[in-house]
Amino acid sequence: EFHRTPRPLHLASDGPFGRWDLQQLQRGYQVYKEVCSACHSLKYVAFRDLAQLGYTEAEVKATAASWTVPGIDPVTGETNTRPGTPTDYFPSPFPNDIAARAANNNAIPPDLSLMTKARHDGAAYVHSLLTGYQDQPAELLKKFPDAKTGPGLHYNPYFANLNLAMAPPLSDDQVTYADGTKATVDQMATDVAAFLTWTAEPSLIKRKQTGWAVMIFLVFATILAWFAKKQVWAPIT
Ligand code: HEM
Repeated sequence: EFHRTPRPLHLASDGPFGRWDLQQLQRGYQVYKEVCSACHSLKYVAFRDLAQLGYTEAEVKATAASWTVPGIDPVTGETNTRPGTPTDYFPSPFPNDIAARAANNNAIPPDLSLMTKARHDGAAYVHSLLTGYQDQPAELLKKFPDAKTGPGLHYNPYFANLNLAMAPPLSDDQVTYADGTKATVDQMATDVAAFLTWTAEPSLIKRKQTGWAVMIFLVFATILAWFAKKQVWAPIT
């Protein structure tokens, strides 16, 4: 009874006529880069994929190079790090799960590539989760004293078990948007939810457009088949 379902979130990519709002996806990428990537990887997304958000080849190269990715020394074979190139994937900031747990109160920050698919109503969930931190309700504590939010945990009614190890990551004006949009918590949460909708299904809009072409073709083919049937059976009816 204390857990809440996500509040509705409306994105340009919703519905049968959905379109990407590239400006918004670029803002979402900025939020991911400047905030979320301190803890979360995007291991199924490569830097070169950012070209789909409207960045030029030079911009993609530059942004890739601004990331540090794990590498291997070609001479000694030892692992090291190097600047990213467009074919690299968004790395985890932690070398392994043990380091990730050590830095996050024993919880591993999950990879975010498919998060909007993994959770029901994913984009709305991400938005609600990021904007939904609050104090633990007194009624809850009265009813379930054992559910008290533990040290290093944070109460959030949108999280399945109500207390999560991620501190509220966003605060007003945390990023300075290149396009001048005001960076409220709600705006950043919406933009990063839109960005994570794209990372989880970059072909979403193409799929919807193909769907329209298929539907229109099928309607046309059905009408044609109906007339053909009438013509074929005309002599004996
Ligand atoms: C979990 C998103 C920033 C640490 C999560 C989850 C999401 C998420 C969707 C999964 C919740 C679930 O399993 O249903 C984001 C976004 C961020 C962000 C969009 C940027 C705006 C951060 C930062 C940190 C962090 C900066 C570390 C300082 C964690 C941890 C968990 C988590 C430790 C696991 C929580 C648990 O299982 O208790 N995050 N996050 N996140 N995040 Fe973040």
